[in-house]
Amino acid sequence: MQQAIGVFDSGVGGLTVAREIMRQLPYESLVYFGDTARVPYGSKSKDTVIRYSKQIVRFLMTKNVKAIVVACNTASALALDELQDEFDIPIIGVIKPGAVAAAEATVSKNVGVIATEATVKSGSYNLCLRELDPQITVVSKACPLFVPLVEEGLLEDRITDDVIQRYLHELKDYQVDSLILGCTHYPLLRNAIGRYMGEEVNLINPAYETAKALKTLLEEKDILNRDVKTPALYAFFVSDGVDNFIKFADRVLPVDVKMTSLVNIESY
Ligand code: DGL
Repeated sequence: MQQAIGVFDSGVGGLTVAREIMRQLPYESLVYFGDTARVPYGSKSKDTVIRYSKQIVRFLMTKNVKAIVVACNTASALALDELQDEFDIPIIGVIKPGAVAAAEATVSKNVGVIATEATVKSGSYNLCLRELDPQITVVSKACPLFVPLVEEGLLEDRITDDVIQRYLHELKDYQVDSLILGCTHYPLLRNAIGRYMGEEVNLINPAYETAKALKTLLEEKDILNRDVKTPALYAFFVSDGVDNFIKFADRVLPVDVKMTSLVNIESY
């Protein structure tokens, strides 16, 4: 099926998910929406994140998408159930795929989760992990400064290393053997986080796991694009700050972002 897949996030971070989908499903077209006017979601209430997410799904449905990926961890944690209840289209989030991979990887059964404040407060990763394996204990930590550090491009920097040390020493003391990078931006700090945690700790990237889960979903629903001759099309939409979005996208994506359009998301 040639219709595109809708992917949305609170802003630019979800491009880490779009990137994994482009790599793992190169024949699938994407319509990406980044809510750059209303970012961050990580410090907002559940009701607000649900309202924003529903508006975005309504917008994506006008693009005739065949499935939707909630690339934002916060929106997945706070709004996925409501979206799945309200809309008649396959919708997946990033929490379950990340949790499944962590549950498979952990031996010590001590799993760490780093995410936004709202994701940590929601307890969604904990719930999912403990449903998968009740023996797992979870230690979570909100790491709000990681988002601006990544957006400033400070992926390898002394300041970032200091912040990593400040946030993650508890998880190190707790001897987690698997750590879920539970926010869209964190996979871009993978090298620096890995250096600090040590190579014996498995870093779980929900973006990668979600692209894998998406492939399974498209196969199950029999809506995978079988036309491998026509190149995939990528369309980008944001609610503000087109230039900044393109700058970030050019750093993250394997393709050039030629066109990004502005959307008045409040009208959906
Ligand atoms: N995209 C968000 C997430 O993955 C991080 C940025 C925000 O707080 O909106 O949770």
